[in-house]
Amino acid sequence: MTLEEKLGQLQQLDGEANGNFRPEHLELVRKGLLGSTLNVRGAQRTNQLQRVAMTESRLKIPVLFGFDVIHGYRTIFPIPLAEASSWDPSLAERSAAVAAQEANNVGLRWTFAPMVDIARDPRWGRITEGAGEDPYLGAAFARARVRGFQGTDYSAADKVLACAKHWVAYGAAEGGRDYNTTDLSENTLREIYFPPFKAAVDAGVGTLMSSFNAINGVPATANAFTLTKVLRDEWKFDGFVVSDYTSVKELINHGFAANEEEAAAAALNAGVDMEMVSRSYNAFGPQLLKQNKLSTATINEAVRRILRIKFRLGLFERPYTDEAAEPNSLLRPESIRLAREIAGRSMVLLKNERDVLPLDKNVGSIAVIGPLADDRRAPLGWWAGDGKEENTVTPLAGIKGKVSAQTKVVYAKGCDVKDESTAGFQEAINLAKQSDVALVFVGELAEMVGEAASRSSLDLPGRQLELVQAIHATGKPTIVVLVNGRPLTIGWIVNNVPAILESWMGGSQSGNAIADILFGDVNPSGKLPVTFPRAVGQVPMYYNYMNTGRPPEAENRYTSKYLDVPWSPLFPFGYGLSYTRFKISNPQLSAQRIETNGKLTVSVEVENAGRRVGDEVVQLYIRDPVATMTRPVKELKGFQRVTLQPGEKRRVEFVLGHEHLGFWNREMRYVVEPGEFRVMVGSNSADVIETKFEVAAKQ
Ligand code: NOJ
Repeated sequence: MTLEEKLGQLQQLDGEANGNFRPEHLELVRKGLLGSTLNVRGAQRTNQLQRVAMTESRLKIPVLFGFDVIHGYRTIFPIPLAEASSWDPSLAERSAAVAAQEANNVGLRWTFAPMVDIARDPRWGRITEGAGEDPYLGAAFARARVRGFQGTDYSAADKVLACAKHWVAYGAAEGGRDYNTTDLSENTLREIYFPPFKAAVDAGVGTLMSSFNAINGVPATANAFTLTKVLRDEWKFDGFVVSDYTSVKELINHGFAANEEEAAAAALNAGVDMEMVSRSYNAFGPQLLKQNKLSTATINEAVRRILRIKFRLGLFERPYTDEAAEPNSLLRPESIRLAREIAGRSMVLLKNERDVLPLDKNVGSIAVIGPLADDRRAPLGWWAGDGKEENTVTPLAGIKGKVSAQTKVVYAKGCDVKDESTAGFQEAINLAKQSDVALVFVGELAEMVGEAASRSSLDLPGRQLELVQAIHATGKPTIVVLVNGRPLTIGWIVNNVPAILESWMGGSQSGNAIADILFGDVNPSGKLPVTFPRAVGQVPMYYNYMNTGRPPEAENRYTSKYLDVPWSPLFPFGYGLSYTRFKISNPQLSAQRIETNGKLTVSVEVENAGRRVGDEVVQLYIRDPVATMTRPVKELKGFQRVTLQPGEKRRVEFVLGHEHLGFWNREMRYVVEPGEFRVMVGSNSADVIETKFEVAAKQ
């Protein structure tokens, strides 16, 4: 390969928003100067550009077509944060598999997913794209999504190459402001932010994307510690790393490079193999080489990594996509059924006083109210692939399709999500008064979450809370359904409204899934993968915090808390209700004492003490109460979803071992320290039963 051809493989350029390639792409591909595109899609278009690569370029290296297929391509599944609420990674694997199949059929061979960033700050809009705040749950979902997209062999015709992003600590943006800097100890990186990436690498992910943020003063896109020491040397990753959108050139704004030439050298030398959109590698590679600021070996290695993945993808054998297959491959009935099933399992019942829910399908009349009751866009969330609003089932449509023929369903929007007008309130109030029950759908628009969608308030936007208050004031039983992409501060609603369902942004089948739950065809079973704070001022707030020297005490002012809000969250991590009731009891350990490399089985009895079949997600947490470094008050180390018939009892088992009990010590070695350990098992992070065991030094 000539130097230009090598650098060409390191370049990725953006297509047009509608999926077309740009005219210049034809010429670049012909000359071997463009290795990959993003956003170019549609079998016809990708084939057209590919034909130029395969027949007109000297080396006939196929182009790699990438796109953000995050939670579905055309069949849109719940946002990843919602899917994580299922605590069932197998569902994420299945949805990713459908997304891969649809994407592959439109010429795509690479998705910029899964997004596996840990997010402890709901102000950050991209919390919606990940699996929440916990590294253990996050790792489980990372693994599952990689498996779903890639299968065991991503050259298969229904698979795509995955990309774990954003490497790394992007979710720790200060103040929750997107793209902002981060400052984190190596411990926190290794214990909180790295694990989902490690899981993705171990699951065989082919690519990673470097993030926009700086970490401890070094931008992630020029960070030799994360890109080379950890990723290559420690984890033995042999795929390639793509930069984020223009993040190579942005090294200048970071103040880490004086110009594009320095930016190119910094990123490529640190370990970013492919440059997304900016063109610094291509523009300055040759002169950097001449000046010895870049070596041929470094360029060769980056090219080798990219070509290795192109070979593994089978791109050379199967560069084209079957254009005839495209129309039949999208929105298959089984994909739509799956989207409904997953949405139903992703929703979280937050409150259900006096069993207001589920509703009777024969109820006389229902007022369906709120700006998100009949909105087709919001349920698709951010990064909705090529999902189409016309394929969204809204809550209103879902409810109409569910209730008996005699039930009267009336609808009023009441207000907009954003605007300040209350002109629609009266109509909504009137309808509520005339009905037996009012269902109010409030939350966020899709554009309020995702990239560049940080918020300084976690309140319901606009006049929505007042709308809920006005409907509640009618005295009619009022149920709130939240349609949103991040934790919201909904204290008033929690204190006043008898039933609340967190439906998240549930995808194309959202409305059907909501109706399935509201009318009892599906028993809710989701659990929050993030803490809901009471007030935005408590943020960052997460369950696996450190105890501090002055843990909060109600009667003692000089302890770690606030003057104006309780120290506890509104809803803890792992929380979620069911229409039935579960009892978790009788914890048993296989041993009272193990050695540092030993294993231990923890079991508890779970009973369905209610009258409906239902799923409980049993969660296991540990605590290392005394160690050479402070340790969190709780760490999730196991979870299991079990389905139980009314009255059924089952013993659920977890195995704890070396990989669960240790931490990264001050010398940055992973160690299990002898001493007492506590084990807590329960239905959420705040409701647990506790037992303990001893870890002894290895003899
Ligand atoms: C920027 C986003 O940060 C990243 O997640 C995405 O994959 C790229 N743009 C490409 O669209």
